[in-house]
Amino acid sequence: MAKIVVLTGAGISAESGIKTFRDAGGLWEGYKIEDVATPEAWERQPGVVLEFYNERRRQLLDVNPNLAHLSLKQLEDYHDVTIITQNVDDLHERAGSKHVIHLHGELLKVRSTSDEHLVYEWKKDLFIGDMCATGSQLRPHIVWFGEMVPMLEKAIDEVIQAEIVIIIGSSMQVYPAAGLVSYAPRGAVVFYIDPKPQINHEMRMRHGLEIIEKSAVEGVPQLVRRISGLQL
Ligand code: APR
Repeated sequence: MAKIVVLTGAGISAESGIKTFRDAGGLWEGYKIEDVATPEAWERQPGVVLEFYNERRRQLLDVNPNLAHLSLKQLEDYHDVTIITQNVDDLHERAGSKHVIHLHGELLKVRSTSDEHLVYEWKKDLFIGDMCATGSQLRPHIVWFGEMVPMLEKAIDEVIQAEIVIIIGSSMQVYPAAGLVSYAPRGAVVFYIDPKPQINHEMRMRHGLEIIEKSAVEGVPQLVRRISGLQL
């Protein structure tokens, strides 16, 4: 049994029908980050921010995990698998993966604006006037640009123990997530599955990087078959 850490980005959910951010036709072509995904946007136009995430939430409830998510669940039969995802969807959980760390928050949760520990499951639209138990406005449980990444330390703790790292469907542009791979031990094997891989500085520095230029639904099941039962 090997310690495997999987870093996933928007690309793993693309074939489930969720748009990525930076591909042609991606979300950041239709919206400006500074209008919907920053604390300043929330201050300036909370209604617009809420509607952006309401749309995302409605869409998420309409889609299903794909073969890439399901294959990662199967990998748990053979290895000790932790998934660190930049995605705010719950498709890894719905596929059955047991250890999922959400670096950028979760779309199906909201939290109090006065107490970050007051977090609630939320599957409907969120509006101005929806309050937490102590009477403060609720906000999406999302890590916006410019905010701390509370799960980062936990993620680093996992990566420093990895024997195999698998990166799937991320442009590896957004830090600190994109830098996590640099914490993997020197001897760790790193796979990167993406139809349009973008090798950032941290990845360029690594020996033993294998790039698999395929979509998640094609590449992940193939890699899972290859490393299932592998003795390290
Ligand atoms: N299978 C695998 N990868 C795919 C597929 C697919 N079917 N389709 C597209 N991709 C790849 C693209 O080639 C690209 O490299 O997914 C990647 C998507 O990159 P981004 O849109 O930048 O998404 P991500 O890396 O997850 O973004 C990081 O930025 O704004 C945010 O907070 C948001 O968590 C997100 C962060």
